Amino acid sequence: MGKGTTLAIEVRPEAREPVFLALARTIVQEIERGRLKPGDPLPGTRALSRTLKLNRNTVDAAYHELAMQGWLVTEPSRGTFVATDLPDMAMHPQPVRPAGKQTTPVRTAERVLLRLSDGSPDVRLVPTTAFAQAFRRALASAAFTSAGTYGDPRGNSKLRDALSSYLRDERGLTAAASEILVTRGSQMALFLAASAVADPGSLIAVERPGYPLAWSAFRAAGADVLGVPVDAGGINVDALEKIARTNGRLRAIYVTPHHQYPTTVTMGVARRLRLLDVARRFGLVIIEDDYDNEYRFDGRPILPLAARAESDLPIIYLGSLSKLLAPGIRLGYAVAPPQILIQMADRREALDRQGDLPLEHALADLVEDGTIKRHARKARRVYHARRDLMARLLRERLSEDAQFALPAGGLAIWLRLNDGLSAETWAASAAKLGLSVMPGIHFDLETVKPAEAFRLGFAGLDEHELTRAIDIFERSKPSR
Ligand SMILES: Cc1ncc(COP(=O)(O)O)c(C=O)c1O
Repeated sequence: MGKGTTLAIEVRPEAREPVFLALARTIVQEIERGRLKPGDPLPGTRALSRTLKLNRNTVDAAYHELAMQGWLVTEPSRGTFVATDLPDMAMHPQPVRPAGKQTTPVRTAERVLLRLSDGSPDVRLVPTTAFAQAFRRALASAAFTSAGTYGDPRGNSKLRDALSSYLRDERGLTAAASEILVTRGSQMALFLAASAVADPGSLIAVERPGYPLAWSAFRAAGADVLGVPVDAGGINVDALEKIARTNGRLRAIYVTPHHQYPTTVTMGVARRLRLLDVARRFGLVIIEDDYDNEYRFDGRPILPLAARAESDLPIIYLGSLSKLLAPGIRLGYAVAPPQILIQMADRREALDRQGDLPLEHALADLVEDGTIKRHARKARRVYHARRDLMARLLRERLSEDAQFALPAGGLAIWLRLNDGLSAETWAASAAKLGLSVMPGIHFDLETVKPAEAFRLGFAGLDEHELTRAIDIFERSKPSR
């Protein structure tokens, strides 16, 4: 192999993964399994882009990323080579990592990417001491030590009681503990919801642009997904009604009304009422994903659809602790009418028997003793300041190139580019400078004409990091 020759590989981006990172990950896998050896030359970027039918900038960005991490070295006028100083551990064949969200390449490098995520929280704020103490108490509790058998597939009753009170106090939702199912993240709840309400081959309408992992969950449950456009007021309910009128397979509609993912728009009251009306008239189940409810910075709190709907309208309401605490703490929940909840719990039992008892017990403690509420208050204050900082920096540095509406809540800004700018090209050149950003193509059901936009998460970086990130972002802007 060498300059001008090729490397036969398959690049398969995982959900929401930029193509250049998928390519970088694939090359690392080839090094790990020994197909590419230290000192081996890689094809030139032009040749590889031709073979893989990728943009040359994409290949360039992947090489650059791997050079930064120490996997590859680039020698001027000679080409790019696998580094010769890789530690032994990197060379032992390892199982190829399973498909999943992977937005940074594989090796833990000294020089980690600065990442403007799609809205992850700052895990450094998690109250770890209180968490560890609660976990220790949970492990020592009689409920755990004497529980020689399995528990309820809906989850630990102490946590469901705690969630029932929390949802009533914080979100106006009157759900009894028996109507709550605790899951391993809301991702599991998305899958269970679809498998309970949609027969194989039936249809779930989703927002477009929207949340790709919801589409994956629905498809994995056997449903087809159909996009409904989103505009400045949220999902277009007229378009939904048209689909419902003409498509007998439509069973459910998935929405993120509090802060639409990815555009951050809050669905207004009139549209909420129209949505409830259309769902009722066409017998649709609403799957409401309220993934970052705690983060409302401006205006009055907005209650979930599930808090205002009549009880005869089936709504599956989903919540998660991934934004409130950390995505690595796998805990979500669903609130649903009894006949749907039973089906979801049955399927959950088939998949996973039950949740993680000590974790559920510990979290129940933290909800009950007010730690979670206090953390939410603190995180809200910190993220509010970070939102304002990012907004100011974007206005100061990029107002000629892009527009955004300040989001009233949530952990990201949806930045729409002016004509002539390509978000993918911009993302590739930002990556060369060590910054990972998520262009609009990741959020579209079809990739033909994606939104030229970025979803820029601001919560995970502190003031200094955010300033540096926007600095790199500005510097990497491609010319029109
Ligand atoms: C739209 C949306 N829903 C739900 C979630 C949370 O998923 P989970 O609870 O599985 O971590 C996220 C997290 O990124 C999200 O963006």
